[in-house]
Amino acid sequence: MQLYLDSANLQEITTAVSWGVIGGLTTNPTLVARETGSFEDLIRQICRLVGEERPVSVEVIGTTAEAMEKEARLLAELAPNVVIKIPIGIEGLKAVHRLSQGPKKIDCNVTLIFSTNQALLAARAGAAYVSPFVGRLDDIGWDGMGLVREMVEILGKHRLEAQVIAASIRHPRHVHEAALAGAQIATIPFKVLEQMTQHPLTDLGIERFLADWNRKQE
Ligand code: G3P
Repeated sequence: MQLYLDSANLQEITTAVSWGVIGGLTTNPTLVARETGSFEDLIRQICRLVGEERPVSVEVIGTTAEAMEKEARLLAELAPNVVIKIPIGIEGLKAVHRLSQGPKKIDCNVTLIFSTNQALLAARAGAAYVSPFVGRLDDIGWDGMGLVREMVEILGKHRLEAQVIAASIRHPRHVHEAALAGAQIATIPFKVLEQMTQHPLTDLGIERFLADWNRKQE
């Protein structure tokens, strides 16, 4: 499973990229709104930091297929690794269909997916990625990871090429479960990525090794 960073913060991105574990990145309007400066400059910088061979999802805010397509084509000019994030819905499907074919084809990540039927529609329309929101489903008492599991099974069974990005990840257990569920990608907030590096027994182990080593030097 690929690990993407879910962030628009340059500091977080620089740090996570330096660990050598990041295969791509996702943003959304909420994450971008937390940052300062021009949106276009921010996206250019993010795409450069992540590396041109790794996809960076940038979300459109238009509400009609025409507006989404126009916005998507402008965003795609910012960097070669821009993937267009489009919310599921009839207008979104039409936009994905238009963007995912022809010589000026642009990869789309269909977002805000909360059912397998939404994922099926997005994949049929030509989405390169589908993003089920695990945490937000858990928040309302549903089984977010169950959705990821079923989505992976359905897309695989019907040989649909869209890759599943487990999104709205809230804790390290979600990452573990997404990997077991067969998601091709999990997009992870920086805080959770940091938590994934930690284990109390690792800290204790290092402490003991150092103490033993220092004792030997006395
Ligand atoms: O990027 C989309 C998704 O990961 C948002 O997560 O925590 O706002 O539900 P969250």
